[in-house]
Amino acid sequence: MVTVRAPATSANLGSGFDVFGVALSHPADIVRVSKADRTTIDIIGAGSQYIPEDPDKNTVGAVADALEAPAHIEINKGVRPASGLGSSAASAAAAAVALNELYDRGYTREELVPIAAEGEAVVSGDAHDDNVAPSIMGGFTIATDHGVTKVDADIPLVVCLPDIVVSTRDARGVIPRETTVDKLVETVGNAATLTAGMHRNDPELVGAGMHDSVITPSREKLIRGYDSVRTAALDAGATGVTISGAGPSIIAACTETTQRSVGISMLEAFDALDITAQVYQTKIGPGAQIL
Ligand code: HSE
Repeated sequence: MVTVRAPATSANLGSGFDVFGVALSHPADIVRVSKADRTTIDIIGAGSQYIPEDPDKNTVGAVADALEAPAHIEINKGVRPASGLGSSAASAAAAAVALNELYDRGYTREELVPIAAEGEAVVSGDAHDDNVAPSIMGGFTIATDHGVTKVDADIPLVVCLPDIVVSTRDARGVIPRETTVDKLVETVGNAATLTAGMHRNDPELVGAGMHDSVITPSREKLIRGYDSVRTAALDAGATGVTISGAGPSIIAACTETTQRSVGISMLEAFDALDITAQVYQTKIGPGAQIL
């Protein structure tokens, strides 16, 4: 039997659409696997009632198929699906690391990323590495067709998850198909600034680099209260605020000094609109860990 903890993640970070991601120190999924003749799945925890246990419809079933590693797989969800926090990716990442260990397949962490991404495609309809890469490898990751580049970084973060449902398909449907050269130049500058900030553990640079004028504006309207929550977080000292993944979670970069007030301000802003929300005071953390 092998048990793995794989963290929730936040993809995009504004300027790095479908490329950037960070592992969050918490929340996380816990996945336990044991060898079996055929794959079966049991799920408990956050939002488990919405997740199919049929291996053909679950992200971890596809991972078990890809690794030719049939198993009984128990999933304890730390984060609900459709949160913008890489919920399905965390399960896929944990299963990939656990089954690789259980069956002694010998894949490296980087080699497990596309395998876990194929699993995630079962539920999201599309294979993206930007959530599974940080969940498997930890830190800040840059996932491209050339592979994954990882930077260990230490940045305090606040993630606020409102009681709003946003489907990834809808959030991908509203993004523009074309942009201008001016916005391309701005995005390259912001993404480079953010990357430098990660290398320097500098929340100011990371926050400044989270600005995005291409994807985020088109998605904001899917998250009621986004503008007021963003403004509240910035007023409380956040260095940058954007949508986490496809939403509805909103992520803020901050310092240890401002982290608590940023979290409270985001909750209060949602509360003023009668929207229930929960907040995670978290930071960039490690990837999947065998327990
Ligand atoms: N990069 C993806 C998106 C993450 O923003 O749509 C969710 O799969």
